[in-house]
Amino acid sequence: SMQVESVQELALNVDPKAVPPRYIRIPEERPTSSLLVSRDSAIPLIDMKKLIPHREDYQRQQEMERLSNACQEWGFFQIVNHGIPHSLLDAIKGVAKEFFNLPLQEKQKCAPQAGDVQGYGKTFVVAEDQTLDWGDLLALALMPNNLKNLALWPTVPTNFRDTVERYAIEVERVAQEVLSLFAENLHLEAEYFKDKFGSEPTNLMRMNLYPPCPRPDLVLGLSPHSDGGGITLLLQDDQTEGLHVRKNNQWIPVQPIPYALVVNIGDLVEVMTNGRYKSVEHRAVTSQERARLSVALFYSAGIDAEVAPSSKIVDEDQQLLYRKFIHEEYIRYYLSRQLKGKHPLADFAK
Ligand code: SIN
Ligand code: FE2
Repeated sequence: SMQVESVQELALNVDPKAVPPRYIRIPEERPTSSLLVSRDSAIPLIDMKKLIPHREDYQRQQEMERLSNACQEWGFFQIVNHGIPHSLLDAIKGVAKEFFNLPLQEKQKCAPQAGDVQGYGKTFVVAEDQTLDWGDLLALALMPNNLKNLALWPTVPTNFRDTVERYAIEVERVAQEVLSLFAENLHLEAEYFKDKFGSEPTNLMRMNLYPPCPRPDLVLGLSPHSDGGGITLLLQDDQTEGLHVRKNNQWIPVQPIPYALVVNIGDLVEVMTNGRYKSVEHRAVTSQERARLSVALFYSAGIDAEVAPSSKIVDEDQQLLYRKFIHEEYIRYYLSRQLKGKHPLADFAK
């Protein structure tokens, strides 16, 4: 990806009335136009405590149904009682905040080589004339080991690495738990997705910082897109709302719930379930008053995993919606393009 300026620096110096033209969206893409923002509904909230395996009570059954509905109707839900210590959630946000608050020069020590998706800066900038998102990010591969590039990891704050590694272990555990609940709801063996993801799943972390913007009505923090991986677990800012999920031609804001994680289905799970579980478009908007921080973990299949609609889900008379592909092929395609709606996935349709 191309080198572009830090939005954090820009936000410090920006003329309060004039956002640089490269960030200004065409009218149809602005937060205030085209699709309406609606607060009439909210993404489902799932209580993981009710889903402890082998609890064959009515409450569990009901919650499993709510989860199934979330996967089919929303592609998004929030989870509470996931077992990740609250102190660790505070700690991961703490180190992310400390990193973004470092002087630019210090952060640029983590800037990637051209073409690398990891590091500090921006991804998905593929063209000189592309409209830019109002946000900075730090992307780091956590798994597999041969993709993990510690040279790009911040050394300040000094507890950054340890905190991220402790957080990664917890989130991987939750990701696997959620995937085995999906499998159960789909009448597959519990290890189904784990097996399909292969022995070396990929796990990418992305810390996002959306600085305050003088004209939130003209820009987006993150362009509309669906996630390319298996599932995403997102820790969002407690104070500042910003994530919008697309449903029925409306944008539904995701309310921050302290210590909850937002879970969403990625393109690969949509393919594997032949469209039964939806990988849904989402975007981030900015705020005039406050910066917003989020930490996303993209838990996905191994690079060489074969991805295809599961024969155990598709009935014989049912049409296959997607063709079979190797995960690596999808990653290359996804990363070569601007973030834009569900286009990458649509191009793998049968
Ligand atoms: C993402 O879509 O990866 C992050 C969105 C957010 O910052 O809420
Ligand atoms: Fe996303």
